Amino acid sequence: MSHLFKAELDGCGCSQAIRYISSLLSAGSIENAWSEATRFVIHATQLDRTFLIANPDRAVSSDEAATLSGFVARRLAGEPITRILGFREFWNLEIEVAPDVLDPRPDSETLIEAALAELGSRKSEEIDLLDLGTGSGALLLAMLSECPRARGIGVDLSAKACELAARNARRNKLSDRAHILRGNWMESLDGRFDLIISNPPYIRAGDIGGLPPEVLNHDPILALNGGGDGLVAYSEIIRSLDKVLKPKGFAVLELGAGQAADVADLALRWGLKVGALHKDLGGIDRAIVLHNPG
Ligand SMILES: C[S@@+](CC[C@H](N)C(=O)[O-])C[C@H]1O[C@@H](n2cnc3c(N)ncnc32)[C@H](O)[C@@H]1O
Repeated sequence: MSHLFKAELDGCGCSQAIRYISSLLSAGSIENAWSEATRFVIHATQLDRTFLIANPDRAVSSDEAATLSGFVARRLAGEPITRILGFREFWNLEIEVAPDVLDPRPDSETLIEAALAELGSRKSEEIDLLDLGTGSGALLLAMLSECPRARGIGVDLSAKACELAARNARRNKLSDRAHILRGNWMESLDGRFDLIISNPPYIRAGDIGGLPPEVLNHDPILALNGGGDGLVAYSEIIRSLDKVLKPKGFAVLELGAGQAADVADLALRWGLKVGALHKDLGGIDRAIVLHNPG
């Protein structure tokens, strides 16, 4: 079908292309169709938004039409736009998104807000950060971008995630302060940290099959599967937190919907002090702060 889109797009003005692509995406029940269509045209033509507004009749070339028709076909087949474009914005950083690594979600920015609120003026000090399950590196890099004298380690079990996180560190000019390590949570680390941040896998194993295709078909199972009760990774991380946090250190963990009480119970059981809960923009408790009482 994509050859039909290509014929329609070849030679038409950019604004007409946006209208046409938007109508196709709307017909495919894709929300924000206009915005996605605009992003596709900007990406395929490599023109910026201001130029496009000033030059709405700039013609789409044959190569650009082929690229755009491929984008539309993939989007209509359920692939997320971030995976098609190969990057997303996270906390004002441009983060590359790659196959077999979780595409970071806007809700996870709640962890950055929570960590910065807890750090207060300490954010300008020389602090040591650890991001467990770093994936694309989004959380670690967002923190390093906010804390100019901090150093950080990002750990992931997935080799592909580690490669991507290292590329994202270079892309955002943070690689001098970001160290990426392959490993099982904090197993191979020595040293202690002022702040540990983590978005662990937290979907109950039995719920994975019911996830929307945009998630199920594109995000890796290692990044999603929280075991039978969804709490396996929390349990593995929380039981070792007191050994890797500095005495005044704290952790900020992402929560799945409805998991706040269970994660707080786990933390209390392992002798941690439970701090603030932070809600995401949808009003869901998304981040929990845990303090090392030692
Ligand atoms: C939900 S994803 C979070 C990725 C990234 N921090 C983010 O927020 O976009 C969880 C990450 O934990 C990693 N992971 C799963 N089990 C792990 C383990 N035992 N040790 C280290 N990392 C692990 C996965 O590979 C995945 O990258």
